[in-house]
Amino acid sequence: MMLAKLLIVVAGCLCAVVASAVVQRDGFRPLNPPVNILDSRDTPSYKSLNPPLNILDSRDAPSPTLVRKTNAERLIAGLPLNPPRRSRTAHPRGVPSGVPTLTQGYIKVTEAGTGKDYGFLNKDLNNFGEFQTTSDPGQRAIFSINLADAAQGQTNIAVNGASARPYIGGIVGFSSALSDLKSGFATYSYIGQTEASPLNSPPVMVGNTFSDATGLAKGVESAIWVYDAGSGTITPQWVNNNLSLPATYIGLSQGLLILSGDKYSFSTVFGPTTWLTFTFIPI
Ligand SMILES: *[C@@H]1O[C@H](CO)[C@@H](O)[C@H](O)[C@H]1NC(C)=O
Repeated sequence: MMLAKLLIVVAGCLCAVVASAVVQRDGFRPLNPPVNILDSRDTPSYKSLNPPLNILDSRDAPSPTLVRKTNAERLIAGLPLNPPRRSRTAHPRGVPSGVPTLTQGYIKVTEAGTGKDYGFLNKDLNNFGEFQTTSDPGQRAIFSINLADAAQGQTNIAVNGASARPYIGGIVGFSSALSDLKSGFATYSYIGQTEASPLNSPPVMVGNTFSDATGLAKGVESAIWVYDAGSGTITPQWVNNNLSLPATYIGLSQGLLILSGDKYSFSTVFGPTTWLTFTFIPI
C-alpha cells in the first residue's frame, strides 16, 4: 500500500518534470532547455560563492586559433596591431586611410518603432551563456567594431575582455527545429559569445557560451552584424543553409534576447515578444 502510494508520487513527479520541458504554465514553449541541464554540468551551481558558470567553462576550452586575432582582441591582450590586411575590395568604402578604424562602445537596446529604453547589453551573461540587458551603467559590456571591415557589409563585433569566445554572435536555439531563420517558421537563435564564423556562412559548429554552459553543441554565426556608422544602428543578418539572407529580427521573449525570421510565427509558439533595435554608442 505504502509502496503503491510512493510509486504514484514518483510517477507524478516525473510527469511534471517531462511536461515542464515541453510547455510552460502559460502554454508557450520554453526557449531554453530545462535548468537542470546546468546542474548536470560538472561545474558547481551554487549561487553567489562563485562567478557565473561560463567564466569557469571558458577557461578550460581554449579553441585552436584557426582565426587570427583581430586588432580589437590584440588591443585587449596588449599585443601590437596586425599589419594592414589586403582588403576584400581594393578601395574600402567610407574610411579614409590614416583614420583609426577601431571604435569601442556600448550596445543600447530600444524597442523598434517606439524607442522605449531597454538599457544596454550586460557584460555578464545569464547562466545559459546568453546576453541579457542592464540599466546599470557599471554593467554595460564594451564592444569593438572595425570600421574598415564594417564598411564592407556583415562583420564581427568583438566583446572586450572575452578571450575564448571573442565575438557577439547568434547561437541556434535549443527548441529551434532548423538552423535557418525564415518566414513561416518559429525558429530562433540566442545571442551569446562565440568564436568566429566565416563571412557569408551558414551556421558552423564552433565554440560558444551556450554550449559551454549546457554541453549542447549548437551552430553559430558571428559575422552577422551590419553597422550603420551614420545612425549607429547594428542590424543582424542571419545566413541560411542555402546562403539566402532572411529578414532577421531581434526579440526579447521570456526575458531572453533572440533572433527570429518571422515575428508572428515566433510569438505564436514562444509567447509575447518585444521587437528591438541595437544601437552602438561609441565611448
Ligand atoms: C533558399 O530557401 C528559400 C526558402 O527557405 C527560398 O525562397 C530561396 O529561393 C532559396 N534560395 C536558394 C538560392 O536556393
